[in-house]
Parts: sequence; C-alpha cells; structure tokens
Amino acid sequence: MLIDVFLDLIFDQLVKHYKGFFPAVEMFGLLFFVLMAHTAYGDVSYSFPEEMKRGSVIGNIAKDVGLDVNRLSSGNARIDTEGNRKRYCDINLNTGELIVAERIDREGLCGKKASCVIKQELVLENPLELHRFILNIEDINDNSPSFKQTLIHFEIRESTDKGSRYLLDEAHEADIGMNSVQSYKLDSNAHFLLNVVTRENGRKYGELVLDKELDREKQKEVTLILTAVDGGTPPRSGTVAIYITVLDANDNAPVFSQAVYKVSLPENSPVDTLVVTVSASDIDEGHNGEVTYEFGHLSETHQKTFSLDALSGEIKLTGLLDYEEESSVELPVQAKDGQGLARYSTVVIEVVDLNDNAPIIMVKSLKIPIPENALPGTEVGIINVQDRDSENNGQVRCSIQQNVPFKLVPSIKNYYSLVTTGELDRELLSDYNITITATDEGSPPLSSTKNIHLTVADVNDNPPVFQEQNYRAHVQENNKPGSSICSVSATDPDWRQNGTVVYSLLSSDVNGAPMSSFLSVNGDTGVIHANQSSVFVSL
Ligand SMILES: *[C@@H]1O[C@H](CO)[C@@H](O)[C@H](O)[C@H]1NC(C)=O
Ligand SMILES: *[C@@H]1O[C@H](CO)[C@@H](O)[C@H](O)[C@H]1NC(C)=O
Repeated sequence: MLIDVFLDLIFDQLVKHYKGFFPAVEMFGLLFFVLMAHTAYGDVSYSFPEEMKRGSVIGNIAKDVGLDVNRLSSGNARIDTEGNRKRYCDINLNTGELIVAERIDREGLCGKKASCVIKQELVLENPLELHRFILNIEDINDNSPSFKQTLIHFEIRESTDKGSRYLLDEAHEADIGMNSVQSYKLDSNAHFLLNVVTRENGRKYGELVLDKELDREKQKEVTLILTAVDGGTPPRSGTVAIYITVLDANDNAPVFSQAVYKVSLPENSPVDTLVVTVSASDIDEGHNGEVTYEFGHLSETHQKTFSLDALSGEIKLTGLLDYEEESSVELPVQAKDGQGLARYSTVVIEVVDLNDNAPIIMVKSLKIPIPENALPGTEVGIINVQDRDSENNGQVRCSIQQNVPFKLVPSIKNYYSLVTTGELDRELLSDYNITITATDEGSPPLSSTKNIHLTVADVNDNPPVFQEQNYRAHVQENNKPGSSICSVSATDPDWRQNGTVVYSLLSSDVNGAPMSSFLSVNGDTGVIHANQSSVFVSL
C-alpha cells in the first residue's frame, strides 16, 4: 500500500510535468504519454489523463505482463471488467497495445475523489489466463468554475457603514486539486473590495466588503462581476453578476432653489395675489424626499397678511400691504422632508409705493384778527403740509386762490408762511375765506384743500363825516326855551367805539355871550335845542 501511494505521487508529478509541455491535453489523441507500474500485488497500472480520444494507445499490456504477441490471437485475448462496469479499453491483438474504447470522464466516474481508479482484466483462453490491471484516470482541467445562480442580488442601505460584509456564493467545479477553484476576482469598482476566505477543507469563498460608503443619490445600483478562477493550465474561470440595489437613507435635506427670493409688489395689491412660489427639492427617495413648506416665525401682522401653501409653496396675500407701514417685508420660509430634515430660505418683498395718500394741510399758527393797518408782507399764519407717500407721490405743491391780498411763501421743508401782499381795509372787506390747495406729484395726483377764515381788526382810521356841510334852521321868536331847533347827523364807518359819533358844540361867543347860553346839542342824537327864547343865532 505504501509503495502504491508513493508511486501514485510520482505519477502525479510526472503527469503534471508532461501537461506542462503539452498544455492542450484533451486536444490530441495520438501523442500521449502513459505511466505504468506494477502495484504491490503485481497488477499493472496505467495512469493517463481523462478525455483521451477513442483509439488512443494507453500502453502495451502484452509487453508489460510478459506475453508473446502471438499468444493474444491464439488465446483470444479480450478485456473484461469486474462486475458489470463498462469496458473502457480494448486490446490490439496484433500489437498488444491497450487502446481507449470509450470516453473516459474522470468527473463522471469518480466525482470529487482524489484518485480515480478503474480495475480491468485481460483474459486469455487455451489455457485460461487472467491479468488484472488498473487504469488510473488523471484529472485534466476540462471544467470551469460555476456559480449556483447567474445573479446575486443585495439590497444595501446607503447609510451602511464601511467594512460591512456580504457573503458571496462559493463557486463549484467538477475538477479536482489545482484544477478546482483557486481564487476569486472582483472587477475594480469604487465601493467594494473582495475578501477571499479559505475554509478548513481548503475550499474558498468570497465576501464583499464595503470599502467606501454608498450614496444612492449618486448611484442607485451597482453591478459587479465576480470571477472564480481555477488553477489549471491554462486556467478556466466562471463568473456571476452581483447586482446591488442601493436603498435610500434620509441623508439629504431639502434644498431651496434660491437662498433669497426677491420680489416686488405694489402696495394695496388685492387679496389672493400670488407673491411668489418657493420651491425646494430633496434628492432622497419616497417619504425621505417629500417636501412641505411652512413659514418661520412671523409677526402677528404678517400672519394675517400672508399664506403659504404647504405643498405647492405658493405664497399669497391674505391682507393688504401698506408701503407707509412697511416698505420691505422679510418672510422666513422653511422646507421640510418627510423625516423632518429642514432648511431655510427668505422671501424679501419690496413694497412698491402707490399714490394712496392725499397731502394733509395743517395750520400751525394763525394771528387773527389781522389789524387793518398791517404792513404788506406781514406774516399772519404758518402752514405745514405732509404726504405719507414717498418720492414723487409725496412731493407736494401748495397754493391759494388768486385775487386775495395774501400769498404763501415757502419756508423750511414743508412749511409755508401766509403773508399779506397789500393793504387791508376793514371797512371794505372785513374777512377773507382763504382756500389752501395742496397737490402731490403722483400719477394721478392727489390733492386736498383747507379753508381758513381770516378776519380784519378795526383801527380807528376814519373821522366822522356830517351828512351836510351846512345846516340852516329858522326859529320863531318867543319860542319856548328847550324846544328843538334842528338836528345834525354824522357817520363813521369804523367799528363800534371807533365808529360811534358824539356831538358837541365848539365853544364860541355870540355878542359877548358864550354860545352855550343860547344853544345846546344832544351828544347822542345830534338834536340842537334852544336855551332861551327869541334869540337869533347864526351858527
Ligand atoms: C366764507 O365761507 C363761509 C363758509 O364756508 C361762508 O359762510 C362765508 O360767507 C364766506 N365768507 C366770505 C367772505 O366769502
Ligand atoms: C378801535 O381802534 C383802536 C386803534 O385805533 C383799536 O385798538 C381798538 O381795538 C378799536 N376798537 C374796536 C372796538 O375795534
């Protein structure tokens, strides 16, 4: 037995050596090389590769067992099998050579067995003679490694850590020894390495090792080819495709299309006006990529003025914008994905001014009544005008009507002095209705008016005037003392006391006697009375 094993080992080495010289063993049938030896029991043994062509010579058995060639024909030599096994070889009766009779497939005969031995017998008659011999079938690399499946499928989440391992199916091969699977290769790729594990029985399998994290948003699937290679000469290989579906993880937040959305909108735009549509996208999948919108912190006024559609991102007006209250509005908006990852953006609304405010006229001071002797240019009042609109909409011009002895003189910003332009005469016109008109430069312009009532104060500037230059009266003699002779009348257009006339007689002498001894006048009424009877007086 020991010798047998020893010899087998030598045969192995020799066969390998021989295969090294003639790589395509299965390709030729005539040129071959068979090793023969006697076993410990005296049997003859032939070692030769499987899959030799029919008719190929295995060895010369006649020579090997010491038979004369002629004996073969006379003895009717033939090859027999033990039991009912197939007859794999024949004998050439002319030469004594053993030749291949059937296809010899080592894998079919012996499977994974380390040595594949077929026992056969050479039988001769007259007399009966029996020689056992052994066919030792050598493996050739006639099988390729193969995988159970044609496709290996993995689902790996993109959040999976580097170093994670995935077991790969072992490749199988019918050939044995070095002709069986010796190594695995993975085509070069960005994410995975191959780790080959050798088991206790010497067989090998691969593990896929994640070497660089996956990113579904960059690559949704990875296809790799795993190749198993045997140790034959030349080597044979088998492949399997590895198909990796990268599953989503919520590793991306929504991203707004703009960091700031700038829009301008006229003030007083109607409710329901679309301000702007904000939009954010999230490259994650499904729920992880579903974006909804909401406002960040808003003031109470803004909450009443704006609405944001959570799904469409449309911002609309729910109230009115007033440029005079706020000329620029900032709204923080937020986009959130299904898992709550959020990002912010800002909407900046420039409110465009409309000419929606009329000028306001305010009388800051008024010095009335105005004395009628006031000199031209006297300041009688100070007017202030204001307009809440901006720029041209807030530029105001002020005027008063023509044909009055007053004018507006522009003073410092938005202030005007109302001054007299001529002499006043209370007795002609005692009050004025001044209408101030203020108009802005908007389009269309807005204007407003204000009436001021100016009164003129009296100055005693008119002397009384008698209705007649001379009054002539006739008095009868012996009139009663105290009777009225005549009455005079004078008028004065001035006001009240300044226009109240008091009558008196100028002191003068009549024939040496004072006038007052003859006549008297009623100061209030102007009625002249006689103090004595029968007096002739010439006034
Ligand atoms: C001034 O206006 C008032 C009321 O507007 C009116 O009653 C008055 O008669 C007017 N006076 C003059 C002098 O026009
Ligand atoms: C009369 O005239 C004087 C100035 O001449 C003035 O001060 C006064 O107020 C006037 N009286 C009235 C009742 O207008």
